[in-house]
Amino acid sequence: MKKHILIVPGDGIGQEVTEVGKAVLVKIAEKFGHEFTYDEALMGHVAIEATGNPLPDETLEKMRNSDAILFGAVGHPKYDNDPTAKVRPEQGLLKMRKELGLYANLRPIKLFDELLGASSIRPEILKGSDILFFRELTGDIYFGEKGRKNDNNTAYDIAEYSRYEVERIARKAFEAARTRGKRLCSVDKANVLETSRLWREVIQALAPEYPDITVEHQFVDAAAMMLIKDPKRFDVVVTANLFGDILTDEASQIAGSMGMLASASVGDSTGVYEPIHGSAHDITGKGVANPLASVLSAGLLLDISFGLKEESEAIISAVDKLLKDGFRTRDIADATTPADKVLNTQQAGEELLKRI
Ligand code: NAD
Ligand code: IPM
Ligand code: MN
Repeated sequence: MKKHILIVPGDGIGQEVTEVGKAVLVKIAEKFGHEFTYDEALMGHVAIEATGNPLPDETLEKMRNSDAILFGAVGHPKYDNDPTAKVRPEQGLLKMRKELGLYANLRPIKLFDELLGASSIRPEILKGSDILFFRELTGDIYFGEKGRKNDNNTAYDIAEYSRYEVERIARKAFEAARTRGKRLCSVDKANVLETSRLWREVIQALAPEYPDITVEHQFVDAAAMMLIKDPKRFDVVVTANLFGDILTDEASQIAGSMGMLASASVGDSTGVYEPIHGSAHDITGKGVANPLASVLSAGLLLDISFGLKEESEAIISAVDKLLKDGFRTRDIADATTPADKVLNTQQAGEELLKRI
């Protein structure tokens, strides 16, 4: 298969982990006889430094002309600590999602058995957890009007959803539930928010079209609690942009670390595959970031954008073998991990490639 893949490392550990994600794609192409070509583009802080723009037109053009995109992360402490900055790395990410129509963000919470002990949640509560989040990605409070008024003394962000926007993400979630445990949990705040009442109305209206799916509605506060109390009760979860952002960082603790969670952002055009984590300034440059979220994102890319199931499974099974052989990056290591099994980012990449 011939495909063109755009690599967008972004900032901080985005650059460190994407290098490993790309190496895995190169290895897969070699092993399975595919012809993947690559290009690279700037986004985030590095793009602001080079061009003044967090998502330069050139990057967007390259994105539109590629078959899939492997993205790292954006962000820099300079902006995090300056609430008045007008140009910010994250604007590039949001613009990319909007411009490419990436309305569905799939975030699988995949727990590798070997990592049962890496979580702060008890193993017997965790064992068997397997959740697929559908986070709506191009609407909600993220994209509504925002601003200041009253002489800069009041700020506002407007949350907005159309019936159409809710329906298209909901259908994707219902359909995914059909291929899994046939349970769908829709998370909202319909006891308070009008956007959530529309959300719930749309889900309820669609449910009769999917009689084989058991639908449940939960309020986001209770869902946050239930995720930790009993993660196994969830199969597919569908939720709005902001709730999905927060709940999936929480759910990363089911998988053991932020460094384990991959995601696929899909919709109208080229799919973007990215870890759910950020640029992690606290560990940037130390070479200790866990690259497995990027590696598993590369796996989702092969599966979802190219339909290469066997190749995608080869990646998951290599991760599984790496963990079974006792290797850990620092974030998923514990007191029982021997020092010679604790790998840095580059070593984790090397050990992984040997297992593909
Ligand atoms: P973060 O996800 O970058 O880090 C949160 C914590 O998880 C940190 O302690 C970090 O060290 C750890 N962590 C994250 N990924 C890891 C990995 N692969 N291996 C080991 N440990 C890992 O979130 P944050 O600290 O809140 O944000 C840092 C910056 O990243 C901010 O500028 C933020 O805006 C940005 N951000 C970007 C994205 C994205 O580009 N998709 C996502 C989230 C945050
Ligand atoms: C994510 C990030 C982004 C989001 C930020 C950096 C804009 O947290 O991809 O999860 O909130 O969507
Ligand atoms: Mn997030």
